[in-house]
Amino acid sequence: MTDPADGEPLAASQAILNPLSDSAIFLVLTVAAGNEQLVHDALGDISGLVRSVGFRVPDGVLTCITSIGSDAWSRLFDGPRPNQLHVLPEFHGAVHSSVSTPGDILFHIRAKGMDLCFELASLLVERFGGMSAVVDEVHGFKYFEERDLLGFVDGTENPTGALAVRNVIVRDDEPQFVGGSYVVVQKYLHNLTAWNTLTVEQQEQAIGRGKADNVEQAEEKKAPNAHTVLTVLTDADGNELKIVRDNMPFGRVGEAEFGTYFIGYAKTPAVTESMLKNMFVGAPEGNYDRILDFSTAVTGSLYFTPTGDFLDDPPPLPPTPAPTLAPTPTLPLAT
Ligand code: HEM
Repeated sequence: MTDPADGEPLAASQAILNPLSDSAIFLVLTVAAGNEQLVHDALGDISGLVRSVGFRVPDGVLTCITSIGSDAWSRLFDGPRPNQLHVLPEFHGAVHSSVSTPGDILFHIRAKGMDLCFELASLLVERFGGMSAVVDEVHGFKYFEERDLLGFVDGTENPTGALAVRNVIVRDDEPQFVGGSYVVVQKYLHNLTAWNTLTVEQQEQAIGRGKADNVEQAEEKKAPNAHTVLTVLTDADGNELKIVRDNMPFGRVGEAEFGTYFIGYAKTPAVTESMLKNMFVGAPEGNYDRILDFSTAVTGSLYFTPTGDFLDDPPPLPPTPAPTLAPTPTLPLAT
């Protein structure tokens, strides 16, 4: 694969920049203490499992992006770490807060149909189960016209092509991890009863785009607390700082559960974290994102997405620290 930005060969990134899919399963696992070697061994099997399922349905476009959390990275791999990998901070505003929840491995499974996602998820859990626990599992679907469950088209301003590569894939900034990316996930639950008491105009003010036609509102018309005001960031030279999002709706009607699974890839977690700070704390402080009055973040975690080659042949486990020897008890001398 070459980098569309400059034509240079690009280390084999996982399928981060594949087009958005119709179905997805998000699996978050934690690795039980003492099972690091087993999990390390299993990482090399992931690409084979994807081939086993995906090859049978070539039009199904099955992919699995595997990412590793901060604590797990230190437990699983010796040698250098991605230098911006850390536990996701929480963001506390006067009214709303985000959470930071456990996660050692994130599987982002995508395909045209849920059948392929489900089959691969089952095989992954079979392979990793016993040595790790699934702490979160969300089955996401595409809703009408790429809409989220708030009724708005979600994903329009995602960067593509060279712009996406520039913003999302680690390059010279971290030479040992070229081709990688940082990913933040958050599970949001919506209060649709409250959201649906708003008029369409009020909802459009919350997002900053037209609901039916998906047209962006003029900047001067946008409310200062609109989602698309608080999530647009620029650098010192005025260039927009982008992330690639692949949000998926999910829910259970019987439980009145209506959600959005947020997932955002970027070449530095600082960009996504600044967006979160703007949303929760507000910019300026107190001017928080209006969608949070109808959306609660119930999970949140940050991972690094290494290249496929890294996962196929990872660096060795870190050396286990030598056990500390208990001091030899001094025996009373025999008289
Ligand atoms: C834009 C929905 C959470 C970052 C949008 C848009 C919608 C939307 C409808 C407008 C269309 C577009 O995609 O360009 C949601 C929902 C969320 C959510 C329902 C969860 C409840 C987040 C989070 C972040 C984020 C947590 C970042 C940390 C962005 C960005 C844009 C965007 C960067 C594009 C802004 C632009 O360039 O105009 N979102 N979003 N979103 N969202 Fe979200």
